[in-house]
Amino acid sequence: MTHTQKKSDIFESTHQVHNQQFTVSFDYPVYFTRNLFNKEHSLLEKVITRKNGNLPHRVMAYVDSRVAQKTPDLIPAIVEYFRFRSNKLDLVQVPQVIEGGESAKNGWGDVRKIISAIGDSHLDRQSFILAIGGGSLLDMVGFACSLVHRGIRIIRIPTTVLSQNDAGVGVKNGMNEREIKNFLGTFAPPFAVIDDYDFLGTLEHKDWVGGIAEAFKVAIIKDPEFFSFLCEHAEALNSQDASLMETLIHRCAVIHLDHISGSGDPFEFGSSRPLDFGHWSAHTLEALSSFTLGHGQAVAIGIALDSFYACKKGMLTKEELNSILTGLETSGLPVYSPFLSNENTDGKLKILEGLEQFREHLGGRLTLAMPNSIGKQCEINDMDINIVKDGVTFLKERAGLKKNNE
Ligand SMILES: NC(=O)c1ccc[n+]([C@@H]2O[C@H](COP(=O)([O-])OP(=O)(O)OC[C@H]3O[C@@H](n4cnc5c(N)ncnc54)[C@H](O)[C@@H]3O)[C@@H](O)[C@H]2O)c1
Ligand SMILES: [Zn+2]
Repeated sequence: MTHTQKKSDIFESTHQVHNQQFTVSFDYPVYFTRNLFNKEHSLLEKVITRKNGNLPHRVMAYVDSRVAQKTPDLIPAIVEYFRFRSNKLDLVQVPQVIEGGESAKNGWGDVRKIISAIGDSHLDRQSFILAIGGGSLLDMVGFACSLVHRGIRIIRIPTTVLSQNDAGVGVKNGMNEREIKNFLGTFAPPFAVIDDYDFLGTLEHKDWVGGIAEAFKVAIIKDPEFFSFLCEHAEALNSQDASLMETLIHRCAVIHLDHISGSGDPFEFGSSRPLDFGHWSAHTLEALSSFTLGHGQAVAIGIALDSFYACKKGMLTKEELNSILTGLETSGLPVYSPFLSNENTDGKLKILEGLEQFREHLGGRLTLAMPNSIGKQCEINDMDINIVKDGVTFLKERAGLKKNNE
């Protein structure tokens, strides 16, 4: 016996191990519909009653303030929907309105409010929370729900393009803390998701086009046909063509869902996050702008910057880069913001802090998803800071030229 083997035997004699391994399977449906709270529309009742639980099922609802304001009939319609089905469904209080937008994710105020309300109403783990709003509200309500009783059922009803095609359909939630985007959050698959296209009619233009950025993101790294669709219809999408937007939302949501169920890493245990192409700088830009820049707009800029990088590294042709930039711009999205050029006192670009934050979030080695021609992706493990700087200059000049031509 060698010296090394002896040492290992001694070590093993100091402990016993019983290796524990089990699998938990998750499933949740994602529906696409309209007019969800029409009294005659039975979908929501079917969704709520699809698994076990005592009748009537107990439900609380939270509504994004802007949605409540723009659709004043919504809360009365929800109350009526539940009253009409009171043998099966019990709405324990009038739907509560919560301030929507990114500020919902900053601070614990609303999280505590929701936790207390669930406690005061004595909801249990087989009761339901309906979260109706944009991605920010869904992230915050989802976070609160994942904490109470270690996870109460949530049905997400996303009301923006970005939340219907991305934020609302996945398995994560997030809160901003320490001025870092999504520093807090849990993996908590929803009980169900219902995309009701009718909500989109009241969106401001910036919130309509914001979600197009996430569609470009997945198309560039996963789906060349979808990329062509986006470029071809960029102008009509910008002009709020509802039918094209519905096609975009469905396709984009399905690509996200297929990735989550088929990638083998739904809870992101590895160091790579392939669906976050363009996001390392986007998250930092949002924070640098004190969240005045929307997530979708920041993602568009992040995609532009990473596409420039990919082009310089020979992973995209100049023509492909130009199609991406033109596609984003024609859709009404920015490819530059002055926050991109913010520097520290030592002259280093502030967005570069996003690289370390991105690495720290997932752990292990920095791994960034990049396009490798349109529709294919690869991973890189470091970034040449000089190319990033050149990218910022290039995008700034492009934005300047565009402004002059307007
Ligand atoms: N959990 C995830 O997997 C995931 C994925 C992507 C993005 N996100 C998060 O989603 C958030 C962005 O979501 P978003 O783009 O939906 O923005 P948002 O939720 O901030 O909403 C933007 C604005 O639209 C308003 N609004 C919502 N629905 C409306 C409607 N129907 N009519 C009129 N106004 C309406 C909101 O009140 C808000 O003022 C970011 O915080 C981002 O980090 C999460
Ligand atoms: Zn995103």
